[in-house]
Amino acid sequence: MGRTYKIAVLPGDGIGREVIPEARRVMVEAFGTSELIDLEFHEFECGGEYFLKTGNEWSEEAEVFTKTEADAILLGGIGAKGPDGNTVRRPDGNLAGYSVVIGLRQELDLYANVRPVKLYEGVPTPLAGKGPSDIDMVIVRENTEGLYYPARGRFSEPDRNFAYDLRMITAKASERIARFAYDLAKDRNGAPVDKVKRVTCVDKSNLLAGCQLFREIFDKIGEKYKGVTKDYAYVDAWTLLVVRKPEYYDVVVAPNAFGDIISDLGGALVGGLGMIPSGNIGDKHAVFEPVHGSAPDIAGTGQANPIAALLSTAMMLEWLGKKFEDKGPVKTAGRIRGAIEEVLREGKIRTQDLCLGEWAGVKPSMTQQVTDEIIRKMKG
Ligand code: NAD
Ligand code: IPM
Ligand code: MN
Repeated sequence: MGRTYKIAVLPGDGIGREVIPEARRVMVEAFGTSELIDLEFHEFECGGEYFLKTGNEWSEEAEVFTKTEADAILLGGIGAKGPDGNTVRRPDGNLAGYSVVIGLRQELDLYANVRPVKLYEGVPTPLAGKGPSDIDMVIVRENTEGLYYPARGRFSEPDRNFAYDLRMITAKASERIARFAYDLAKDRNGAPVDKVKRVTCVDKSNLLAGCQLFREIFDKIGEKYKGVTKDYAYVDAWTLLVVRKPEYYDVVVAPNAFGDIISDLGGALVGGLGMIPSGNIGDKHAVFEPVHGSAPDIAGTGQANPIAALLSTAMMLEWLGKKFEDKGPVKTAGRIRGAIEEVLREGKIRTQDLCLGEWAGVKPSMTQQVTDEIIRKMKG
C-alpha cells in the first residue's frame, strides 16, 4: 500500500451533494483495486443549506481539518435558496458559504484557478464545424484579488444610495499568476491550430489601470519564457474571438472576475458546465471543484452531470502525485480519465445536458448511472 492522503470532502449545496458522492465512489473503486494509493476521506457539511440549519457556514472541526490537516480538498458547489426563494446570505451580505468557496481561496493563498476547457470526443459543441481537435485550452484565473477581494460597501441613505466594489490589482499577484500560466504553457503541447505554445492575456487594459499593470507584468515575466508566445486580447473582443476560432487558444490568463466569466463561456463550448473541472492552486494547499455551482434548477432531479466533479478529482490526484512525488495517484487519475473518455466516446450513457446534436436521440441517464458506467470501464 502506498502513502495515505487525507482528503477534506465538502459537498456543499444542491448538486454538489449529488456529484461529490459520485467522485468519492469513483476514487474508492479506483484506488481500492490498485494497491497504489490509499485515501482517507473526511467529509463535512457546509454551505448555504448548512447555514440555514445551524447559523454557521461549516463546523469548527470542518474548518480546522480543511485548513490545517487535509492534504487536498474536494469541494462541490456553494449556494442555497431560502424559504423566500432568495439566495441565503450571511448578516454581512455575503453568500452563505462564502468562507468555504472564497474564504479558502484567500486564506490558503490559492492564487491560481486552473480551468481546463477541453472538448472530448462524443461531446456536442454548439460551434458549427468544430470538433475535439479544435478545443483544448486552459483558463488560468487570478484567484485572490481583483474585483472579488472583499473591498466593497453599500450606502443606503436617501441621498447617498450607492454601492462600490473596489478592484485592486497588485504586482505580486500579477507576477505569480503570469509565471503559473507560462509554466503551464511550457508543459503543454501548444494550441490546436498550430502547436504554438501560446499564453493569451485577456484583460481590459485599454481602459483599466489594474489591467495595465496586469499586462505590463505579463510582458515582463514572459521575457524569460523564450519558447512561449505572448498573445493579447481585450476581454470583450475575446468572447467573440474564442467562439470564432477556439483552436487558436492554448493557455489564457485573466484577472479574477474576467476569468470567472470567460470560464462559463468556455463551458458552453465543450458541453456545458457539467464538463469543466478546476483546481484552486497555491504553493502549499489546493481545492478542487467543478466550475459549476449548486444548480438549483436541476438539484434533486438526478440530472446533474458528474463528469466535472470526476475530472476535478483526477486533477486533485495529479496534483497530489506531483507534490509528493508519488506515481500512485497519477496512475489512478489516468485510469479515471481513461474511463471517462471511453464512456463519452461510446455516447450511450450520458446525462441530459449532453443529449444534443448528434446525440439528441440518446435516452438521458441519471447521475449515478453515468458513474456506474465509468466505474465499469475503469475495472474492465
Ligand atoms: P450554476 O453553475 O449552478 O448553473 C448554471 C447552469 O448550468 C444551470 O442551468 C445548471 O443547471 C447548469 N449546470 C451546472 N452544473 C451542471 C451539471 N453538473 N450538470 C448539468 N447541468 C449543470 O450557476 P447558477 O445557477 O448561476 O448559480 C447557482 C448557485 O451556485 C448560486 O448560489 C451561485 O452563487 C452558486 N455558484 C457557486 C459556485 C461555486 O461554489 N464554486 C460556482 C458558481 C455558482
Ligand atoms: C466560481 C463561482 C464563484 C466565483 C462564486 C460562487 C462566488 O462563480 O467558482 O466560478 O465567482 O468565484
Ligand atoms: Mn463562476
